Amino acid sequence: MLSYKGVNTAQENRNGYAVLLLHAFPISAEMWEPQLRAIEAAGFMAVAPNSFGIEGSEEKQDWSFTDYAHELAALLDSLHCRKVTVVGLSMGGYQAFAFLKCYPEKIASIVLCDTRSEDDALPARQQRQEFINAIEAHGPEEAVRRMLPNFFSSKTALEKPELPEHAAEMIRKQSNRAIVEAMKAIMTREDATPLLSGITCPVLVLNGEEDRITTPETAAGIQTQIPGALLGILHEAAHLSNMEQPEQFNALLLEHIQALTISSEKT
Ligand code: MLT
Repeated sequence: MLSYKGVNTAQENRNGYAVLLLHAFPISAEMWEPQLRAIEAAGFMAVAPNSFGIEGSEEKQDWSFTDYAHELAALLDSLHCRKVTVVGLSMGGYQAFAFLKCYPEKIASIVLCDTRSEDDALPARQQRQEFINAIEAHGPEEAVRRMLPNFFSSKTALEKPELPEHAAEMIRKQSNRAIVEAMKAIMTREDATPLLSGITCPVLVLNGEEDRITTPETAAGIQTQIPGALLGILHEAAHLSNMEQPEQFNALLLEHIQALTISSEKT
């Protein structure tokens, strides 16, 4: 089973709807704290699971995002959630695509944040293998050293050092094994681009304007391929845009969720 952070999970979930928040690599569901608080205040249920091997989630070797999609479905069933808005940031976006492929009937809408649809070309896979070798040799601190500089804008790193420090703490809590196995899932993921034109549910694409890992151009490329998708660019935000600009992020996310509720009340 997967460990998770949840809000409004105790109340009877009569309409069977929840927001499913899928986290980035190599951090944890803790990154969604600002969104969990806002979704809770708005009265919706939300579930933010941890990937395999993180914060008590089952450890697994050689797992794929398809394996993870099946675990997500089992978790949602156990919480009586029939339909979700899937929100995935970066690796969470890759997981959202796998969930879409396996369980389209469970998806009310999708929010794709700072992510990409294509799989890795050979040079990217080689770089990822080199990353794995470095983690095996030096442990999670090596992931902090390599990943952190791209997570937040330089302004935030200077003015709010507690944010990079919080992300670093999340990475330091991971085992070498959990980081390596997640990276293997990333580098063997399927190309989700062929799915885009067939998506029929509402989609919101969000991206930090200063994200160098997945750029605003990448986000715009996803948006234009999904019929009717909307694009929101978050100012003064880099890769972990939800942590860096929670007010902008939450406003767009809640607007998206509330529009769904209104349209389902009309039908
Ligand atoms: C993430 O933030 O989840 C990673 O940057 C994903 C990736 O490396 O492709």
